[in-house]
Amino acid sequence: MQIFGVDIGGSGIKGAPVDLDKGDLAQERHKVLTPHPATPDGVADGVKQVVDHFGWTGPVGVTFPGVVTDGATIRTAANVDDSWIDTDARALLGERLGGLPVTVVNDADAAGVAEMHFGAGRGRRGTVILLTLGTGIGSAVFVDGVLVPNTELGHLELDGHDAEKRASSKAREDHDLSWEHWAAHRVRKYLAHVEMLFSPELFIIGGGVSRKAHKFLPHIEGIKAEIVPAQLQNNAGIVGAAMRAAGH
Ligand code: BGC
Repeated sequence: MQIFGVDIGGSGIKGAPVDLDKGDLAQERHKVLTPHPATPDGVADGVKQVVDHFGWTGPVGVTFPGVVTDGATIRTAANVDDSWIDTDARALLGERLGGLPVTVVNDADAAGVAEMHFGAGRGRRGTVILLTLGTGIGSAVFVDGVLVPNTELGHLELDGHDAEKRASSKAREDHDLSWEHWAAHRVRKYLAHVEMLFSPELFIIGGGVSRKAHKFLPHIEGIKAEIVPAQLQNNAGIVGAAMRAAGH
């Protein structure tokens, strides 16, 4: 069975039909640039361009980089335009897509669902935490494979700052830090804090940096939990969005 998945990110809006049996894209994904400012209207146009590229007419799952309740309503918008807050994104996108059924889900929750089913978290019990280190930090917390949605661990306080401003991949670039310094200080300290709160068995590190795990994972010391890179890498959000739209 196929469902369409779209991932709304800080730089791009990416999507493709997803083969839900394989947990993989059924066709090569299409990407358009995220408009700036990333307003509801501009982003909805981008989602439409991506879906129309494939002539898709079925259900669509869409990730959003903020808190999403009931598969529809946006509650926070840390890295996109504030006018998203309290928007019914399911209604907005459904209307823009000519009435296609739409489900909206937090981006990290979507990536986590895909990793737990098809990637690094497959078959793992206990507490598993996926953290996406990208423009912001997203989190997905699982207990015996069940998601606790919208956990927002990227906004914990770290050294008097919003944690994502210290330990995201964007923070590494903004402050011109080496991979080693970023990993050994910022990411390690952040993981130690999350570990102190949740004592997970496993951390899965997602986001674009998961492809460069060899550059930073070896520098993270003193964490008791196992730490592994995400396996679906950049497609986890698209696959997870489609899975949520299918009722996973
Ligand atoms: C948002 C989260 C999102 C994360 C990654 C954070 O700033 O608050 O909802 O999952 O960025 O995009």
